[in-house]
Amino acid sequence: MSGRKAHNPNVRSRTPEKENPEGAEPEIAQSGALSVQRATSGRRRRLTVNWIETLFLLILGALAVLPPIRELHKQLTLAAVAVVQLLEGRAVVWFPRHGRGYAVLLKIVLATLLLGHTGEMGINSSYWPIYFVPVVTAATYFGPWGTLFWTALASAAYCSYLIPALQEYALTWEGLAELATRLLFFFLAAMLVNRFAVEIRRRAAAYQSLAEQMAETNRRLAQAQEEARRSERLAALGQMSAGLAHEIRNPLGVIKGSAEMLNRKLQQSNPLASELAGYISSEVNRLSALVTRFLDFARPQALERAPADVREVVDRALAAVAAQRPEAKVGVERVYAEGLPHAPMDERLCEQVFQNLALNAYEAMEPDGGTLSVEIAPAQRGAGHGVEITFRDTGPGIPPELCQQIFNPFFTTKKTGVGLGLSIVSKIVDEHRGFVRVESQSGHGACFRVFLPVAEGAASATAASPPAN
Ligand SMILES: Nc1ncnc2c1ncn2[C@@H]1O[C@H](COP(=O)(O)OP(=O)(O)O)[C@@H](O)[C@H]1O
Ligand SMILES: [Mg+2]
Repeated sequence: MSGRKAHNPNVRSRTPEKENPEGAEPEIAQSGALSVQRATSGRRRRLTVNWIETLFLLILGALAVLPPIRELHKQLTLAAVAVVQLLEGRAVVWFPRHGRGYAVLLKIVLATLLLGHTGEMGINSSYWPIYFVPVVTAATYFGPWGTLFWTALASAAYCSYLIPALQEYALTWEGLAELATRLLFFFLAAMLVNRFAVEIRRRAAAYQSLAEQMAETNRRLAQAQEEARRSERLAALGQMSAGLAHEIRNPLGVIKGSAEMLNRKLQQSNPLASELAGYISSEVNRLSALVTRFLDFARPQALERAPADVREVVDRALAAVAAQRPEAKVGVERVYAEGLPHAPMDERLCEQVFQNLALNAYEAMEPDGGTLSVEIAPAQRGAGHGVEITFRDTGPGIPPELCQQIFNPFFTTKKTGVGLGLSIVSKIVDEHRGFVRVESQSGHGACFRVFLPVAEGAASATAASPPAN
């Protein structure tokens, strides 16, 4: 710096507060003070400038009417600073990766130009605080290291005016101290603003994640309420139909008994009537079996759980289904893991679960047959440890839109189906505190996974070393 003392009027650096540092569209400003109408391909869009930006423009206007007034380059540079400030929000949206860096760089360039046109020597210009504009902008956009980098760059741009000055003047200690003070003020302002900006960004992120969590919780709550209402309705309906089914079973018994008696009595005298009585009897049998299955499903069951080897239960179920369908061309593949934990289960009910799944797979692969793969492996679901039993077939699969419905009572796509098999599966597995999932793509076979949890303490009991009971 020259021996001359720098002229240092009390010029305040107005920090332009960012309309939206996170890069939202600037025209969505909350309070509009100045509106610029712009026609874009026949459609009119409003460019709204909020009051803080208006204030910023006013301050730049005030700088423009301070000396040197007749310096055209100075006025143009101030106008360019204003334009950059107005378009900055948009630039950040248009160039999300580098927009902020471009904005700061442009402001440093403009600040440097301004100094070149506002003093005999740029280093002595009283407009030096204009560097606070890029410095504070960087502090609001970047982290501490980014802020330091941009502040250092702005300082370097300012110091570049030393080169021409040193050609004519010598740098005194006072001049050097003055320059260092100014540079240190850049850093001081930058780090102070950055600290607040980082804190605000951190809080905004925390609030946003909290808001997202709350929205998710609300959504789940609404879903749970809806499910609870549906369950209540279904429970009431279930109770009513169970009562009805119970009442139907007694008259069915009487009808069946009477039809069989008629059949026997009329066998010789009236073959036609006897045949009709036979129909009544066989249809009543079917109805009665249906009512019994429904009552089995609806009746609350007391589980008799004991740790058991799930492989034996699955094998019994597979053998039972194979015996029911001797004509089926189904190959069964078993992949059973070693050292499986003994899951506490009601063996009779779990056998029914696996039978229902195997039976569905057999039916799905009719008439051409196919392969049913059964896998049993230890599994971890969330915090729960247990056994997963997978039934995978090579049938037509289940269309995704039906995957939720198939577990509803009486949902069936089969001509002679009852639609209770999977709802019984789901009910029994629920009672074991496990879950059943279906994975299926239409045309690529169905895959049912049953997870049975292992109770605390039973986790260590394995198939290789069964517990005492
Ligand atoms: N392995 C499978 N492959 C394809 N569809 C299946 C399979 N298992 C179940 N489904 C579908 O789920 C429906 C309901 O099954 P379920 O409750 O056992 O009743 P049902 O066997 O009497 O139809 C079946 O009608 C069928 O559409
Ligand atoms: Mg079935």
